[in-house]
Amino acid sequence: MADKKDEFREVRNKEGGFLKEVIEKNITRKLIPKGMSWFGCMGGISLVAFLVQTITGIFLMFYFVPGTKEALASIQYITHYVPFGWFIQRIHAVGPHVMIGMVIGHMVRIFFKGIYRHPRELHWVSGSCLFILTLLMYFTGNLLSVGNMDELFTIRLSFLYAVHVAVIPSIMGLFMGMHFFMIRKTGIYEPL
Ligand code: HEM
Repeated sequence: MADKKDEFREVRNKEGGFLKEVIEKNITRKLIPKGMSWFGCMGGISLVAFLVQTITGIFLMFYFVPGTKEALASIQYITHYVPFGWFIQRIHAVGPHVMIGMVIGHMVRIFFKGIYRHPRELHWVSGSCLFILTLLMYFTGNLLSVGNMDELFTIRLSFLYAVHVAVIPSIMGLFMGMHFFMIRKTGIYEPL
């Protein structure tokens, strides 16, 4: 029994050691390269903004009702009655502006540095699709939040909701997968 415990402890220490090494090498002991600019971080910040939107969006889904009369009322319920609901709702409402700004900054840097050239032309193409999808998310989200429309819009509103929470995010996930896979293949233009 003691042997088994020692064996277990040894494996755990080995795993812990490996994890510690990975964390130290990549995060805690990694130095920011000299000359690294904010512009160079905008792709990564766009990804963080997308993740923040996904997490806060999942929270909002628990309470949001996509009906012509209920939409606005459910947003008011979130902001006034759900604990910290106002905070999550505000993040989800302000986040898209940050994300669009970051994606545009990322795109402008790549354009002016000519990074879209071979072998990174497909990064540019998948990135352009991501830009369009980001704008579509913004557009559909804005339409949802002012849901207080005509009764005729009920079906359209639930369609819009499905597009906003499932269709576009899934396509974005797919394009992001392609974007990151290709970046991994070529490596980034100015390695860290
Ligand atoms: C949701 C939108 C996007 C996300 C989350 C994203 C994320 C990233 C990340 C994390 C990188 C690697 C780090 C870097 O070089 O910044 C990257 C690289 C790249 N992205 Fe994006 N991106 C997005 C949109 C775009 C757009 C709109 C374009 C251009 C039309 C684009 C073109 C590229 C290119 C060419 C690279 C390679 C840069 C290099 O090799 O240094 N991306 N992207």
